[in-house]
Amino acid sequence: SFNHPSPMFSLANAFSNEEIIEFDSRIKRLAGVDNISYIAEPKLDGLAVNLIFENGIFKKGATRGDGTTGEDVTKNLRTISSLPLKMKHSKDYFIPSFIEIRGEVYIEKKPFLKLNTRRTEEGEEPFANPRNAAAGSLRQLDSRITSRRPLNIFLYGIGNVEGVDFSTHWEALQMLSGWGLPVNQYIEQAKDMNACIKYFERIGAMREELPYEIDGIVLKVDSLDLQKKLGNVSRNPRWALACKFPAAQATTIVKGIAVGVGRMGTLTPVAIMEPVNVGGVMVSRATMHNEDEVLKKDVRVGDTVVI
Ligand code: IVH
Repeated sequence: SFNHPSPMFSLANAFSNEEIIEFDSRIKRLAGVDNISYIAEPKLDGLAVNLIFENGIFKKGATRGDGTTGEDVTKNLRTISSLPLKMKHSKDYFIPSFIEIRGEVYIEKKPFLKLNTRRTEEGEEPFANPRNAAAGSLRQLDSRITSRRPLNIFLYGIGNVEGVDFSTHWEALQMLSGWGLPVNQYIEQAKDMNACIKYFERIGAMREELPYEIDGIVLKVDSLDLQKKLGNVSRNPRWALACKFPAAQATTIVKGIAVGVGRMGTLTPVAIMEPVNVGGVMVSRATMHNEDEVLKKDVRVGDTVVI
């Protein structure tokens, strides 16, 4: 196991524009200002990791775990081709002697489907969704297996760091890309709450076309001074918010097909699925009452389905 030098927090969720606006009002009130500028980011549906770089060299990486202690997955992270094991030197970005970098490991939609097809052909259990596939691949004991999985990574945050100075989250992201590390291209500066809501709608409309799954956006107060001032409520920073998309869809696996008996004795097949979060609700059953549709889709045990 691995103790994170600084704890990894999780995000409070909002499911509507009203809740997002309330978040902004609360921060303005606490900070005593009349406008807050944010950084808006896609919320990647993967798993959070913590990377340690020393003098520009990737040394260690771990899963988030409970936020204090995670699993050491250094060997497996080394197999991710989009993760440079050495920071790029440039005169604009000083390389720190020690830095903790946070990000998300994920698998893109198409490679995920290919991986599942291959697994099914080889008689192995398919993964319920790209997130599970990424988690399973990263936590493999044999890193040769991990190296054959299409893992990817985006970095979006900094924990403890020595010897570099920055005063906004935006500067932190620019440093990360300056060091040659992968940062999501859709991250934007949002000068006020209006811009945040527009971003939320814009990214929501792009969601299906993106090559990877996202389940919302994340808003972060740009000023690090203000972040510090706002602090945390238990494990959630008061300066960040996950805004979840309303009409979500999710991928899961049919584990079995049961038969439900109605009040009138009607028999209805029910798909029993690996539980999956769809827009904040855990779904594990779906009736298969629509025979035409079920036959057309040819839904069977072991199939990957979209809820
Ligand atoms: S920031 C305090 N940024 O969401 C900030 N997290 O509940 C903590 N996630 O464990 C994380 N995309 O797995 C952040 N752009 C993003 C993210 C992101 C996805 C996940 C991450 C984290 C969870 C927080």
